[in-house]
Amino acid sequence: MCGIIGYAGPREPVGIVLEALSRLEYRGYDSSGVAFFGKEGKISVVRASGKLSRLAESVQGMTGSPGTAIGHIRWATHGAPTEENAHPHRSGPIVLVHNGIIENERTLRRELVGQGYSFSSETDTEVLAHLIHRAYREEGDLARAVRKGLSGVEGSYALAVVCEESPGELVAVRKGAPLILGEGEGEFFVASDVPAFLKWTRRVMPLPPEVVATLSSKGVSLCRLSDGLGLPAVFEEVPWDPVQAEKGQYRHFMEKEIFEGPRAIMDTLEGRLGEENSRVFLPELVRLGPNPTEIVFVACGTSYHAALLGRLMIESLSPVPVRVEIASEFRYRPLRFRRGAWVIGISQSGETADTLGALEVARKEGYLTVAITNVGGSSITREAEATLLTRAGPEIGVASTKAFIAQVALVWLLALYLGRRESPDVRDSLAALVRSPARMEGFLGAVDRDLIDRLSRQILAARFAIFIGRGIDYPLAIEGALKLKEITYRPADGYPGGELKHGPIALVEPGVLIVAPLVDTRLRPKEISNIREIEARGGTVITIGPPGSGAEDPVPTFILPVSSEWDGVFYASAVLQLLAYRAASIAGNDVDQPRNLAKSVTVE
Ligand code: G6P
Repeated sequence: MCGIIGYAGPREPVGIVLEALSRLEYRGYDSSGVAFFGKEGKISVVRASGKLSRLAESVQGMTGSPGTAIGHIRWATHGAPTEENAHPHRSGPIVLVHNGIIENERTLRRELVGQGYSFSSETDTEVLAHLIHRAYREEGDLARAVRKGLSGVEGSYALAVVCEESPGELVAVRKGAPLILGEGEGEFFVASDVPAFLKWTRRVMPLPPEVVATLSSKGVSLCRLSDGLGLPAVFEEVPWDPVQAEKGQYRHFMEKEIFEGPRAIMDTLEGRLGEENSRVFLPELVRLGPNPTEIVFVACGTSYHAALLGRLMIESLSPVPVRVEIASEFRYRPLRFRRGAWVIGISQSGETADTLGALEVARKEGYLTVAITNVGGSSITREAEATLLTRAGPEIGVASTKAFIAQVALVWLLALYLGRRESPDVRDSLAALVRSPARMEGFLGAVDRDLIDRLSRQILAARFAIFIGRGIDYPLAIEGALKLKEITYRPADGYPGGELKHGPIALVEPGVLIVAPLVDTRLRPKEISNIREIEARGGTVITIGPPGSGAEDPVPTFILPVSSEWDGVFYASAVLQLLAYRAASIAGNDVDQPRNLAKSVTVE
C-alpha cells in the first residue's frame, strides 16, 4: 500500500532510492517516482506509470547531488495510476511523497483553490504539498512548516518532504501509516518498511505516530507534531538478515518464502520452550494477569485463516472458548464478550488498518488486547497491551506463505501455553510442534515437484476450483483457495465440506475441480463422503493428505508425511502454497506482485 523511501547522506542518492524502491515494490506497483537535487540546487522530479522498471528507464544516466532524495511507489487510492498522479508531488519549493488517505481532502482542496493554488493531479497528496508550502511561506523552516501545514488535516499519512531551499534536510512524519527510520554510517534513511534499507543498515527505529523527524547526514532530530517538543531518537538493531530480503537462487520471493517455512517455525519457537522442551513460556503475556475467560481473534486475509486454526488448537488443548472475527466487520459491531476476555489481533505487517481499528475499539471497550505480528515496533505493537512476535523474517511476496506458517506455530504455542501442562494431550502436542520444523524441512526437500506441476496444470485447466475441508481442513481449504485467487486470478472458492450440499454442489459438473486437504484424521471419513458426492457428479478431485488407513480410504493424490498432530497443517499448507505458486508461474503471472493487491493494507 504505497512505499516511501527517503535518504539523507553523502552518497549519490538516485541509485539508493531506486534500489530501496525495488525492495518496497511489494507494497504497490502501479506507478513510481523520485525527487533529487540536481546540479544547480534545483529539485528534479521524475515519475513513471506502471512498474518500477519504467522509472528506472526514465532516470537512467541521471545522478543527484549528495544530500537528500525521496522516492515513492504507488498503490492508487485517489486518482488513476497515471504519471500525473504518481508521487512525488510539488508545490513551490516543497516536494513530497505520501502514503495514506486524507479524509477532508475536498474541503482543503476547495480552500486552497480559493487562495489561488492550482492542482495538476487528482490525488489527495497534492493538497498536502500546497498546505506545507503555504505554511513554509510563513515559517521559513521545513519542520515547522510540516507541523503547521498538517494541523488541519484529517486522515492517515506517512510523509517524506524535502525543500529546494534547504537541500541537506528531509522531514518525515506519520499518523496511521508506518515509517521506519534507519541509521547508517553518516547517513540516515526513512522508509515504509525495513527491507528498503536493510542492505545498508540494521539499526532502526519505528517513527512513533505524530512525531516529526528531521534527517540530515549529521543525524536525526525528533519533535512532537502537536507542540514541537523535542524527543530522543533511540535506534536498535533488528535481527533480520539482509539475505532474507534477497531472492537468492529462487525465481520469486514467494517460492523462496515457501521453503523458509521450517525456519519460520523454528525461529518462532526459539527461546519459548523450557528445558528439554517440556513447557511453553510466553513471558510477554504475564503482564495481562490470569488466563483469559475467552479469546477473540481479529484479523484479515491469510491472518484470519491462521486465527481459525488457532481457535481449533486452543479449544482442543485448553478450556478457553475462542471466537474468530474478520477485523473489518468486528470494528463496527457492539462488543459483548466475557469480562476478562482477550482480543488478539493477528497481522503479519502489524499495519493493517482494519485490524488496528478493531483492537482500538476493543481496548476502548475495556478488553485486554494482544498483538501477534511479524514486525516488531509496528503500529499494532503500540496499540496492544502485549505483543507476541512471529519470527518469519521479512516477507516480500504479496501472497503470505512463511508468515502464515509462523502464525500457525505461534497460535499453537499459545494453545499449549493455555493448556494444562500435565495433560498428556498437551505433552504430545508440544512434542509434535517441536519436531515439526525438521519434518517440514525434510518434506519440502524431497517434495515431488513434477507432481506439483502436473496438479497445477490441472488446476489451470479447470473452469472453477472449489476447495473443501472439515475441521482442521476447513481453514486450510479457504487459505488454499485464497492463495490460488490471489496469484492466478482463477475463480476459486473455499467451503466447509459439509456445506457443499447446501449450494455449491450445484456447480459441480465435468470441468470443475475440487481440492480437498485431508489432514483432519477424525473427520476424514466424513470428508471422504463429501468427495464421493462430488465424484458422483462428474467433478475431478485432488486430495492432499497423509496415506489413508483402509480400503475405503483412497490414496491421496498428493501424499503428505503421516502427521501425529497439527503439524499436518504445515505440510498441507506448503503444498497448497506450491500449487498456487506453480499455477501462477505457469500462467506467466507476476507472482510476487499480483494485480490490484498490496502487501499491507493501511487504509480501510
Ligand atoms: C493483504 C495481504 C494479505 C494479508 C492481509 C492481512 O490483503 O495481501 O496477504 O493476509 O493483507 O495482512 P496482515 O499484515 O494484517 O497480516
